Amino acid sequence: MKVTKAVIPAAGLGTRVLPATKSVPKEMLPIVDRPAIHYIVEEAVRAGITDILIITSRGKSSVEDYFDRAPELEERLLASGKEDLYRQIMDVTRMANIQYVRQQEAKGLGHAVLCAKSFVGSDPFAVLYGDDVIISPADQPAIGQLCKAYDRHGLGVVGIKEVTPEQIVKYSSLAVEPLEGRTYRVTDMVEKPAPDKILSLFSILGRCVLPAEIFTILEETPLGAGGELQLTDAMRTLTHTRGMTGVDYVGKRYDMGNKLGVLQAIVEVGAAHPEIGEGFKDYLREFCKTL
Ligand code: UTP
Repeated sequence: MKVTKAVIPAAGLGTRVLPATKSVPKEMLPIVDRPAIHYIVEEAVRAGITDILIITSRGKSSVEDYFDRAPELEERLLASGKEDLYRQIMDVTRMANIQYVRQQEAKGLGHAVLCAKSFVGSDPFAVLYGDDVIISPADQPAIGQLCKAYDRHGLGVVGIKEVTPEQIVKYSSLAVEPLEGRTYRVTDMVEKPAPDKILSLFSILGRCVLPAEIFTILEETPLGAGGELQLTDAMRTLTHTRGMTGVDYVGKRYDMGNKLGVLQAIVEVGAAHPEIGEGFKDYLREFCKTL
């Protein structure tokens, strides 16, 4: 079944990028000239997704404003002959059918996904973590690679990558067996493993495609690491009952939830930017000489 719905959880507190995230959602931090969430919606649209639910929370209305019309600005741009900018801001409002729901308390990623229950209904759906920007070749959006694996194997899919031993204890750790190419059979997973509970250096990074039965599982899942309802704990149950597939997707992931990740995204996307890339690279070359 073709996946046409996506959920973008963007209701977290973003404590690792404070104080900026006190008033600017981390999902709205700019990478050159677009906020992080723009790249994420664009990735979903490229994968054929038409309906998107963004999970927001108090203080995140700038996410809704970004995808909404701005009549005064539109009129001003047209009146001053700035048609190219007008087209750019209009394109943003037409990217997809975007809806919003508020998570009233930041009770974890699993709880955020549960807020999408009525939007999703009985369809399989994609989850794109709102602070994980993944840059892939235009014809291979990361979530599209996962959707293809869902079509092929009929099981929930997690996007996976190998990380360092220092990182794995902050993320999740997976037990996997090779299936074909970049695809693996997932046999177990654990969220934020203690060093003696690490299953492998493969971690879930930013993307998954899930069957609607995840909602029943989430409703029965006890609170996990950090006292939060963990999506990984529910996916672990799904792994043991139905099975899940892992895809080591082609693409580079930037963690907009931590300061170094934000800088890496800005530098690398900036260097490849069609308008300012060359000038920025000249600047970087000069700057590197001073390091
Ligand atoms: P994170 O755990 O990285 O987000 O969740 P966080 O809680 O904001 O992180 P800290 O405070 O810096 O440690 C990954 C994604 O899930 C969303 C976040 O917005 C982020 O996009 N999320 C997390 C929710 O929507 N709700 C939550 O309760 C927790």
